[in-house]
Amino acid sequence: SPSGALSGKHALVTAGPTHEPIDPVRYIANRSSGKQGYAIARAAADAGARVTLVSGPVDLPDPPGVNVVRVESAREMLAAVEKALPADIGIFAAAVADWRVAHAGEQKIKKIGDASSALSLIENPDILATLSHRKEGRPPLMVGFAAETEKVIENAQQKLLRKGCDLIVANDVSTATGVMGGDQNTVHLVSAAGVETWPTLSKTEVARKLVERLSDLAGAMPS
Ligand code: C5P
Repeated sequence: SPSGALSGKHALVTAGPTHEPIDPVRYIANRSSGKQGYAIARAAADAGARVTLVSGPVDLPDPPGVNVVRVESAREMLAAVEKALPADIGIFAAAVADWRVAHAGEQKIKKIGDASSALSLIENPDILATLSHRKEGRPPLMVGFAAETEKVIENAQQKLLRKGCDLIVANDVSTATGVMGGDQNTVHLVSAAGVETWPTLSKTEVARKLVERLSDLAGAMPS
């Protein structure tokens, strides 16, 4: 509703994996269903925000009332994010591939041949860190995610500093938790203010609660 807690605000959300081409038939990717990011985009729209969702390849329908920009690679995601600026809130839930192949082949790489030399990897841009460290046009409220399999809080605290964001939503994705592709999530909110652990909730509930929290924080800022 236009009278919602985020009315007048522009929320920029990333979700899903990125696909980094190796050749016409192969790619590098992280595991990501996109469910948590899509739920956040929807919750932000429900709270009255104008929402741009920059999404990697996922098998999910566009959330109602959300402007969805579909991309494949990390570099395309960064370009789409920059094009969507300015934004009041940035929520970076995408599982961006850390590396891409330096020279993606125009032809399929043969099984018998030099696959290892074809696969020299270079680092992708870090979208969250790039935006967070921008001198101009930085969204005033930047939120990152940290999917960890161990030392969840400690790693999230380091990530908060390294990425330069205002809040990290950390979750334990070790295989036993079933978070990957599942519908539930147990998260910790890590910021300069401290750590807050939420009970296990559906991804929809995590999204609603997160948007509520971000509305409180954004309410303290001029629109
Ligand atoms: O370093 P790591 O991938 O664990 O950081 C996760 C956070 O950083 C997530 O918010 C993710 O969306 C963001 N990220 C990004 N661009 C990258 C890598 C991660 O925006 N290249």
